[in-house]
Amino acid sequence: MCGELSLPGNVNWNAGLLLDWYDKHKRQLPWRERRDAYAIWVSEIMLQQTRVDTVIPYYQRWMQRFPNLETLAQSEETEVVRYWEGLGYYSRARNLRCGAIEVVERFGGKVPHTIAELRSLSGIGEYTAGAIMSIAYNQRVAAVDGNVLRIISRLENISDDVAKPAVKRQITALVHAKIPDDRPGDFNQALMDLGASICLPRAPLCDQCPISRNCEAFEQGIQQTLPVKTPKNKPEPVFVVAGILRDGAGRFLLRRRPEQGLLAGMWEFPSIETADKPADLEDLKRLFTEHTELLDITEEPFFATTHTFSHRRWFIAFYQLISNLQSFDMAESVWVDPASWSEMPFAGPHRQAAMRLLAEDMTAAYKERI
Ligand code: ADE
Repeated sequence: MCGELSLPGNVNWNAGLLLDWYDKHKRQLPWRERRDAYAIWVSEIMLQQTRVDTVIPYYQRWMQRFPNLETLAQSEETEVVRYWEGLGYYSRARNLRCGAIEVVERFGGKVPHTIAELRSLSGIGEYTAGAIMSIAYNQRVAAVDGNVLRIISRLENISDDVAKPAVKRQITALVHAKIPDDRPGDFNQALMDLGASICLPRAPLCDQCPISRNCEAFEQGIQQTLPVKTPKNKPEPVFVVAGILRDGAGRFLLRRRPEQGLLAGMWEFPSIETADKPADLEDLKRLFTEHTELLDITEEPFFATTHTFSHRRWFIAFYQLISNLQSFDMAESVWVDPASWSEMPFAGPHRQAAMRLLAEDMTAAYKERI
């Protein structure tokens, strides 16, 4: 077998024991209340790189606003991204909407039933196709995510790097061989729940595991050393200063980020990013003085925070600016009344800054009244 690693296959662990455990301990999750493919699709996309607890309220709000595929297919992208705001990885939301449109156009509004057709849709990869096929359509297809890689690497004592495609293929084959004919969706979800509550990354609860008696890593006491993964690079620090500028009508200057790249198309207070040194007030002044006469800038940031993306960490500080607004024409920037902010997708910490501005305004208005 050219290029394939030959891995062990421990035939002993029993899908029945895992399913019995699942029947007693499965988590009550909102997407488990309905089995239609659209609901499973939405939940699986939201759950990528995101914790279950975080996803639940987003999923519920989403399902109220976009209860079925047709509603999503007819929606505007801006609104879809707004409903995703805070979950990160926004291309997931855009692809989900595109995928819904493709299903309407190419499959008459019915989520397709084959892996190849599912994978031809925007944003659906091997894992999501496996989850939809097994959970919504009860087909024997594996859905291998990080949890499953961890569980199988321990059960089978696999010490190769699970990030290698060949290792992942082998693990997928091992899982596939175990999927029972009658409950493929439950089997895959049982593995997900086992990974989330028992076979934990750092301190697995092996004494509560229904299949620990057949776990090779447990037998050898090496469960904490698996899975083997190549360490990820640390996120690059990026320093950002943002300027908050308000006009006489109480509107704030906002601009849309470019259509490509990080937080694509989302709204923010105009800002400067520097990777090599902390951006400072001089940089911020330069951004604005090209467009207006800057009269003053607060010494201390109005708000500062850090925000970590997969490859970058923003160290961001927001400053309040005062300018004479005789002329102002910064590309891609517009004056926006705070009344419209709730409908606009904001870029990460820029929403936090916006909320603080609103809270401060409300406090000031209250103080004026008393
Ligand atoms: N993680 C990914 N998919 C999941 C699901 N369907 N249930 C629970 N956790 C998950």
